[in-house]
Amino acid sequence: MVADNRRCIVDVRDVKMVYNVKNRDASTHVHALRGLSLQVYENEFFAIMGPSGSGKSTLFNMIGALQTPTAGEVLIEGVNLASLKPQQLAAVRCFELGYIFQTYNLLPVMSALMNVALPTVFAGMSTQEGEERALECLEIVGLRDRAHHLPSELSGGQQQRVAIARAFVNKPRIILADEPTGNLDSRTGQEIINYMKNLQQGSGTTIITVTHDDKMLTAADRMAWIRDGQLERIANREDIEIRMGSIKEHH
Ligand SMILES: Nc1ncnc2c1ncn2[C@@H]1O[C@H](COP(=O)(O)OP(=O)(O)O)[C@@H](O)[C@H]1O
Ligand SMILES: [Mg+2]
Repeated sequence: MVADNRRCIVDVRDVKMVYNVKNRDASTHVHALRGLSLQVYENEFFAIMGPSGSGKSTLFNMIGALQTPTAGEVLIEGVNLASLKPQQLAAVRCFELGYIFQTYNLLPVMSALMNVALPTVFAGMSTQEGEERALECLEIVGLRDRAHHLPSELSGGQQQRVAIARAFVNKPRIILADEPTGNLDSRTGQEIINYMKNLQQGSGTTIITVTHDDKMLTAADRMAWIRDGQLERIANREDIEIRMGSIKEHH
């Protein structure tokens, strides 16, 4: 509805992904995505829900330009990823996209500040500018005072906040998150969702998250459900009523 008037920022067109799994004497094909299409609009908070094994991480990798689909196309801001040379793809990953993972994926020997500043090095920023930018991002997630701590000196929720700051440091148009609350208790998970929501509203960033955490529905503008590598349905936030953790749909 409203979203349809906005600019499409991610366009997934009939994407299929088949993994070839080779055993000792046979090879099998796993159809992780079976022809999936969806559009995400600028500045949306878009949640892709689905049970374990439904193809969420595969879809995350396709949208994130981390993996090439077997068939179909992914367009980011109107640009077909398949048309890009490796260096151009690297630039998309560096400037257009920010990534958040379930296990935070921070470098253990680097401080929070250095972890957040790392993408600015790839972006060609000076050390001083990069560190200033990293401090600003740590401030946004309420961790400026933890800048010089190692990941091992931070709680899971704090580490994920560092990962949010890192995803945002190059000011990408799109932040992608794969099960960002998967390793966190319910309350800490809700905090992380709130930080992601604030980022979306405060900066105009588009947030796309794949998850099986129903709490994400509290923040999402639209949500898609996938099952067995196919789109089951898409709903707008107005269509969904969330009450006491149980989800009831209007008809
Ligand atoms: N690298 C891989 N090689 C072979 N099969 C894979 C690979 N990655 C995922 N799969 C399979 O593809 C399907 C979808 O997996 P995945 O995208 O990880 O789902 P989800 O993130 O929803 O749990 C599953 O059947 C999984 O076993
Ligand atoms: Mg997964």
